[in-house]
Amino acid sequence: MTSPKPVVIVTRKLPEAVETRMRELFDANLNVEDKPFSQSELIEAAKTADVLVTTVTDHVNRAVLSQAGPNLKLIANFGTGVDNIDLDTARNRSITVTNTPGVLTEDTADMTMALILAVPRRVVEGANFLKEKSDEWQGWSPTWMLGNRLTGKRLGIIGMGHIGQAVARRAKAFGLQIHYHNRRKLSEDMEAELEATYWESLDQMLSRMDIISVNCPHTPATYHLLSARRLKLLKPSAYIVNTARGEVIDENALARMLEAGEIAGAGLDVFENEPAINPKLLKGKNVVVVPHLGSATIESRIDMGEKVIINIKTFLDGHNPPDRVHPAMF
Ligand code: 8YV
Repeated sequence: MTSPKPVVIVTRKLPEAVETRMRELFDANLNVEDKPFSQSELIEAAKTADVLVTTVTDHVNRAVLSQAGPNLKLIANFGTGVDNIDLDTARNRSITVTNTPGVLTEDTADMTMALILAVPRRVVEGANFLKEKSDEWQGWSPTWMLGNRLTGKRLGIIGMGHIGQAVARRAKAFGLQIHYHNRRKLSEDMEAELEATYWESLDQMLSRMDIISVNCPHTPATYHLLSARRLKLLKPSAYIVNTARGEVIDENALARMLEAGEIAGAGLDVFENEPAINPKLLKGKNVVVVPHLGSATIESRIDMGEKVIINIKTFLDGHNPPDRVHPAMF
């Protein structure tokens, strides 16, 4: 007699190939309509699942974890950031958490680079002008819609993990000078490869950069790392790009400063209270906003799904899953 398949509850619709494989391997409870779970639906899922597959839109907080059923032993997050999960409570309840690092690095770095290019060169503003008012276009002009040159400018990367390093590689090819702030200094070899300058003091780095890219995870230590006080350290000509997590920047302070012209512009893929966005950011001409698309390629999302499956299979086979998350990592 074969043992029953484990109950795997998946909170969001995943790519077809991933769902097909999940159906074969598990007693998979899929969200084919992709309607995000309410908190009470999430609690119900935690009560009945052996494994919960969550995403950034699920708030797996203490209330959810404390009502989890005895069978819930694994939360396999579809995503690298795990700030949506209360890791300490999960550990105290002996629930293992895994994530999907690595496979979305290049795509997220591409999106970061796209914003670094688009904002100073006013790409979206120009595109919108033509789409909305092409009849007003007078043709080429030597002084109209000027932006700023990238080559030779200083890029300050906050968080030099895999994504930060992938951004540095790209930015170097565009002639940007690479600077970074990180909990740990990189090895000398890596610094030499990236031609990167380390700043132990974030404050000092901020005051000297032309462009800032946020690439660190959101943790209690990085919440509002870019506070109103720190944002004021930026040069008024500086641009800021965030493809990490909205919570790392004080969004209201940023919006006020952009509106007042105290910062030159921003490229934002993530927001503090998604899906809500501060309306000032939506109105700002010098702001490019993208709806959390950093890893939104078919390739990344399939690879993320495969990682989720490998983590579940390995765990259920009694081994240490490859992408096990320890609270101390963050
Ligand atoms: C994911 C992300 O798609 O992986 C991450 O941390 O920010 C995104 O690119 C999202 O988090 C899915 O949970």
